[in-house]
This record gives sequence, C-alpha cells and structure tokens, in this order.
Amino acid sequence: MEQIVALGSDHAGFELKEIVKQHLQTNGIKHIDLGTDSTDAVDYPDFAVKVGHEVAYGNASYGILCCGTGIGMEIAANKIKGIRAANCLSTTMARLAREHNNANVLCLGSRIIGSILAIDIVNTFLNSIFTESRHTRRLNKIISLEEGNV
Ligand code: RB5
Repeated sequence: MEQIVALGSDHAGFELKEIVKQHLQTNGIKHIDLGTDSTDAVDYPDFAVKVGHEVAYGNASYGILCCGTGIGMEIAANKIKGIRAANCLSTTMARLAREHNNANVLCLGSRIIGSILAIDIVNTFLNSIFTESRHTRRLNKIISLEEGNV
C-alpha cells in the first residue's frame, strides 16, 4: 500500500503540524490534513478521533498528531480500536515504537520538542518497520484487551 499519512493537531500543535505537512509535501509523501486550521482554541480529542479513524479504517497507513505535550493526543487516540499511538520524544522512541509496538500513530508535543527534532522523529517513525516476531504475541494481548477478553 502506498504510504498515506493522516495529520491532525489542536491549536497548540497547529504550527508544528504545518511544519510536518510542509516536510511531507517536500518529500513527496502523500498526506491528508484533518485540521485544525488555525491557532484558535479547539479540543484535541476531536482531532485524535478524525486521524485515528482514518488509520483504523485503512484510509491512511499512519497518523501524526500534534498537541502541546503529545500526551492528550496519545491518550485520546489510544481509545480507538486498532490504534497504537506513541508520544515520542526521541528518534530512538520513534524507531522502537514501530519495531516493537507496531505503532500506527505518532504523537508530537510542540511545547516539549523543537521542530528539527520533530522532523527527525517523523522520518524515523515513517522509515522503521515492525520486524520482531516475538512482539506479535504481546500485540495480540493488546488486541484481547480491546476486545474485553482480559
Ligand atoms: C492545550 O492547551 C493543551 O492542553 C493540549 O495541546 C495538550 O498538551 C494536551 O495534552
């Protein structure tokens, strides 16, 4: 499947989302911008849901969500079945979130990390692959949690 990235932010993450969007555009990575469209105050769960649904329904391969800390987006997105959202503060976290956790949504905190680091994190996340088969058993246990079987 061609890589498509769904982007979303609240007002605190808006400027970082625009920087990430520009980066994806420059590098020819297909993306859809699900808002917000300005620094006017909005509620981050609304955008976590929009992006989470695009990924969960298979319309996007990955999601990227920006808010002030990355925490609210991470908590909200992880309520959606099929979403494994990771708030990453380093490229190591981004790589391991993909390799070990098969994360499909990256959360970024605009008030926590700078934009240059954020772009490095985005690149690492998008270029890392879930490879380690021993982690599949653990991910299946997370699916059981989602289904209320634990
Ligand atoms: C908005 O002020 C802020 O609370 C939000 O962007 C985020 O940091 C929440 O986790």
